Amino acid sequence: MSKGNIFAVVLIVAAFFVGRHWFADTPTVMTDSRSGAGYSGGAESTGSARSGLVRAIHTAPRTGTVHEVREGELIMDKVKVAEPGDTILVYPGSYSETVYIDKDNIRLSGVIEKGQRAVLDGKGHLNDAVLYSGNDIVVENLLITKYKGNAIMGQAGNNFEIRNNIIVDTGVYGIFPQLGKNGIVTHNVISGIEDAAIYVGMSDNIHVAHNQVFESVAGIEIENSRHAIVENNYVTNNTGGILAFITPGLPVKTTYDVIIRNNFIVGNNHPNFGAPGSTVAGIPPGTGILIMAADEVVVEGNIISDNKTAGIIITDHNNAPNTTIDPESDPAPDKVAILDNLMHNNGYDTIDEAKALMLTEFKTGNPDIVRVGVSRDSCIINRHQYVTVGVDNWAECGFTHTGDIMTYLLDKPVEPREIDPSEVGKVAYLGICAGCHTYTGRMIGPPVQVIQALYMDNAQGLADYIANPVKKRDDYPEMPPQDYLDATTRLAVAEYMLSVSK
Ligand code: HEC
Repeated sequence: MSKGNIFAVVLIVAAFFVGRHWFADTPTVMTDSRSGAGYSGGAESTGSARSGLVRAIHTAPRTGTVHEVREGELIMDKVKVAEPGDTILVYPGSYSETVYIDKDNIRLSGVIEKGQRAVLDGKGHLNDAVLYSGNDIVVENLLITKYKGNAIMGQAGNNFEIRNNIIVDTGVYGIFPQLGKNGIVTHNVISGIEDAAIYVGMSDNIHVAHNQVFESVAGIEIENSRHAIVENNYVTNNTGGILAFITPGLPVKTTYDVIIRNNFIVGNNHPNFGAPGSTVAGIPPGTGILIMAADEVVVEGNIISDNKTAGIIITDHNNAPNTTIDPESDPAPDKVAILDNLMHNNGYDTIDEAKALMLTEFKTGNPDIVRVGVSRDSCIINRHQYVTVGVDNWAECGFTHTGDIMTYLLDKPVEPREIDPSEVGKVAYLGICAGCHTYTGRMIGPPVQVIQALYMDNAQGLADYIANPVKKRDDYPEMPPQDYLDATTRLAVAEYMLSVSK
């Protein structure tokens, strides 16, 4: 017997011993660290604020039924029987399905045992891993890979918590809460997404923190949303790191009150692999932060380095590629505030537009901050730290930090979104279709105007298409089937899509 084999035998014996005597009969004890007792520390306690950690929205003890799912079973079978208040525990193993949660107050929790997770595997052909349209939904501890559409998409649900998920190579959007109020996206690791790794769309009161996003086209995107904090994220090697912007042609027309602070935004130089014509396909590789048409965006305390085009780009719609103008959205980013940030080695291989702008201001060096187009009432402090273009006429800010604002989350969960039957089509349109279709412009899918011309009085035809879409356009990706919606909802959303006029 060779030496190597003896070693192997020793290891097997050791594993056997450890397995029997240490772990075999120990049940999994699960403790919820977001609502339990806190460490009181050596010094006198200073209250219950969870500094540095984002508290949970749902802290009441869960009293509902716990449904366990193990490999070989379908998660969806448990979702079907679950009642509001229930928890679905998914044990390590491989699951290949789309989970659609259309009821309120369900917690979908992966169980992580010795590093092994429940893996949702789309095998390259399923579209979405987890979709929810209910309120008070928690999705946590999963590993999601190889879906074509979304890893986790929220469709008009309030009070969501999406945390501790690992998402790899999963289609168009990684975590995509659409039309939600009061929600948390924390401690997720996301990579390989062809649009945005984290895409907060048409939502309010949002906290995006402690996520790692990399090798995606857009890292974190706050779009047509208000009152959002993006903090303590590690955003690296995307095409664009953190984006706050308005997409024109969506039903919600504004983005404002966004704080981007204390993030690491490093080396976002990945080649752009966004769907041609999509908004993000226009982002120049090497963009740290992009602020487009969004108002009241505060940028503070970030480490922004090694982004080759610029550390921060601020632009209006008129100067941005792949955007159309929406008469109801102000195209200018107003009241942007740039506070202290560590900016280093940005703009070292910048785009011609930035170079030309620098020439007009007789600036030399590599740009940290580039502003193009109109921006009113914006401000900056300690501008001498940065190489800038377009901000010389910005005022000094009247404040120096955002330390008094801990969160924009609401004290209590907001009321669940009640949907009147007459509104089913509208809410589905806002919550689902508007993620890929705008009225006039090209997003992921073709403009709604074009669809209206095609289907005119044929709502049923449109409803049939979305249940089972066929590939029609060479220059667009496939449209994911919406067959998880029932026939009534599909017809209602079809009728609504044909009726919208903006
Ligand atoms: C993940 C992105 C995405 C979502 C969400 C989405 N679509 Fe699409 N849609 C597309 C793409 C991409 C195409 C173009 C497909 C093609 O031409 O092959 C498309 C095409 C269409 C068409 C054109 C059909 C035709 O005959 O040319 C209709 C109608 C449509 N979508 C309706 C909807 C409705 C209604 C919803 C919401 C329930 C919706 N879509 C949600 C991406 C999406």
